[in-house]
Amino acid sequence: MGGLAFLVAWHKRAAIESCLSNAKVPVYAVGSADYTQAIKPFNYRVTFNPAAYAVPATVEHVQAAVKCGADNKIQVTAKSGGHSYASHGLGGEDGHLIVDMKNFKDVKVDIAAQMAVIGTGGRLGDVATALYNQGKQAISHGTCPGVGVGGLTLHGGYGLISRSKGLTLDNLLEATVVLANSSVVTASATQNPDLFWALRGAGAAFGIVTNFKFKTFTAPENNLVFQYFISPNSASQLAAILTAIQDFTRNAQPPELNMRLFLSAFTTFSGVYYGSRADFDKVMNPLLTNMGIGGGFAQVTQNSWLNTLTSFSNGPLQQATPYDTHETFFSKSLMPSYLSPAAIDALSQYWYNNARNNQRSWYLLFDSHGGNSSAISEVPADSTSYAHRNATFKMQFYDRVNSGNYDSTWMPFLNGWVKAITDKMPEEKFGMYINYADTSLSKEEAHEKYWLGNYKRLVAIKERVDPGKVFEGPQIVGS
Ligand SMILES: Cc1cc2nc3c(=O)[nH]c(=O)nc-3n(C[C@H](O)[C@H](O)[C@H](O)COP(=O)(O)OP(=O)(O)OC[C@H]3O[C@@H](n4cnc5c(N)ncnc54)[C@H](O)[C@@H]3O)c2cc1C
Ligand SMILES: *[C@@H]1O[C@H](CO)[C@@H](O)[C@H](O)[C@H]1NC(C)=O
Ligand SMILES: *[C@@H]1O[C@H](CO)[C@@H](O)[C@H](O)[C@H]1NC(C)=O
Ligand SMILES: *[C@@H]1O[C@H](CO)[C@@H](O)[C@H](O)[C@H]1NC(C)=O
Repeated sequence: MGGLAFLVAWHKRAAIESCLSNAKVPVYAVGSADYTQAIKPFNYRVTFNPAAYAVPATVEHVQAAVKCGADNKIQVTAKSGGHSYASHGLGGEDGHLIVDMKNFKDVKVDIAAQMAVIGTGGRLGDVATALYNQGKQAISHGTCPGVGVGGLTLHGGYGLISRSKGLTLDNLLEATVVLANSSVVTASATQNPDLFWALRGAGAAFGIVTNFKFKTFTAPENNLVFQYFISPNSASQLAAILTAIQDFTRNAQPPELNMRLFLSAFTTFSGVYYGSRADFDKVMNPLLTNMGIGGGFAQVTQNSWLNTLTSFSNGPLQQATPYDTHETFFSKSLMPSYLSPAAIDALSQYWYNNARNNQRSWYLLFDSHGGNSSAISEVPADSTSYAHRNATFKMQFYDRVNSGNYDSTWMPFLNGWVKAITDKMPEEKFGMYINYADTSLSKEEAHEKYWLGNYKRLVAIKERVDPGKVFEGPQIVGS
C-alpha cells in the first residue's frame, strides 16, 4: 500500500472505530486476540484484513453498524459461519466493516404451525439439533455442520433431503433485514416481495438478515444411508458410470432418493433413501447394473434423522466455540443442465490423465440436483433469484493441501478440468454456484455464471435498495 493510501485507510479505520464506539456497538478491536481468531477464514488460502469487526447483540446494534459503515464510506459485510470458499464473509477483499452475526443463533420452533424462527448466525449442526430437540422438526440444509445458516440460505442450500424438500431457500417464509439505509424491514411473499426474491439466491448484496422464518417438517426416521465403494479403472468406465447416473437423475430418480458420486483418490457413490429397503432395492438395482457396479462393496444402514445427518457430517453435529476448523484449497463449480457424451468423455479423460496423478487431496463431487422429479427443479425458474433450477448435477471441484500453502501455480489443474468440459458444449450456458465461490472468476464472469438470466432484475433491485453500494464485495450483485 502506498503512503497516501495507507494514511486514508488509517483515517477510515479510526473514524469507523469511534463511530461504533459512540453507538455502543460491541466490537473485536483490530489486533485483539478475539479479532485475530475471528478473521481466520474457513479457507486459509484466502485471508483478508477488515477495517473493523462488529459483533452486534441486538438488531439496533446491526442498524448502528450499517449506519457507521455508510456514513464513513466503508463497505459493510455480514458474516455468519465464515464458510465462503472465497472468504466473502470477510468482505472478499481488505478494508470492510464486518458484522459478525454469531450472537443471533436462537432457534424457536412453533410445532403446531410447523415453523421456526432461526437467527442467521447459527451453524447447521447446532440449528439441526435445536430443531430436532423442539418437536423433532427439521429443515432442508447442507451437509457440513460448521456451515453458517446465513450464507447457505441466502445463496442456495443443497443437502441430503433437497430432492424431496427443495433447497434451504425454498423453505424460507420470511426474513428480517437491515437495509443499507439502516431501516429494518420484513421480506416475504407479501411484504417487499422483490427484496424477498433477491434474498433467495443473492442475499449478500441486499442487506443484513438477522432472522429467518422457515417452514419445517417432521424429521423422517428409519432412513437408509448407503455407500458403494467403486474403483473405475479407465476413462470409458467412468464415462459409463456418469452416463448411467445422468440418465437416471434426469428421467427416473424418485424424489425420496438423494445421491452423489464422490470422485477422488478413492471413489464412492452414496446418499440417503427415505423409504423401505425393498423399495430402495427396486429403485437402485437397475441403476447399479447400468453403472456396472452391481457387485461392488456396499454399506446400507438404517438411521434416525440425526444419525443420517451425522453420517455425512465428518464429526459431531454440535460445534465448538470458537469455531476453529480450517482447510487450504481452491474450488470451482459447474451447474450443467446436461452433460453431452463428448463432455463426459473429456471429463473422464482429464480424470484419467491428469487428476489421478495429482498427489494433493482433490475431489470432484456430482450431486444429483435436478431431473424431472426433483423438488428443486419443480420450483418455477423465476420465483427466486437462484438461477440453477435446470441443473441436473451440482458439480464441485476441490483441490486441497493438508499442510502448508496452496501454490497459485496449481490453479490450472481445476481451471483446466472445467475448461475441458465446457469447451465440448459451447452452446450450454454453464451456471456456477456462488456458495462454492470461485476466486478465479472476474466480477463479470461471476455475475453471469452465478445468476444467469436473473442478473438484470437483481441489479435493478440493488439500485433501489442499496444505491450507495453499502453492501459490496468483489463478486456480489452490483459490484
Ligand atoms: C465444509 C463446507 C461444506 C459445505 N457444504 C455445503 C452443502 O452441503 N451444501 C451447500 O449448498 N453448500 C455447502 N457449502 C457452501 C456453503 O453453503 C457456503 O460457503 C455458504 O455461503 C457459507 O455460509 P456462511 O454463513 O458459513 O459463510 P460466510 O462466509 O459467513 O457468508 C457467505 C456469504 O453470505 C453473506 N452472508 C452471511 N450471513 C449473512 C446475513 N446474515 N445477511 C446477509 N448476508 C450474509 C456473506 O456476506 C457472504 O457474502 C459448504 C461449505 C463448506 C466450507
Ligand atoms: C420423467 O421423464 C421420463 C421420460 O424422460 C418419464 O418416463 C417419467 O414419467 C418422468 N417422470 C416424472 C415424474 O415426470
Ligand atoms: C433448461 O435446459 C434446457 C437444455 O437442457 C434449455 O433448453 C432450457 O432453455 C433451459 N431452461 C432454463 C430456464 O435455463
Ligand atoms: C430505506 O430504504 C428502503 C428501500 O429503498 C425504502 O423503502 C425506505 O423508505 C427507506 N427508509 C428511509 C427511512 O429512508
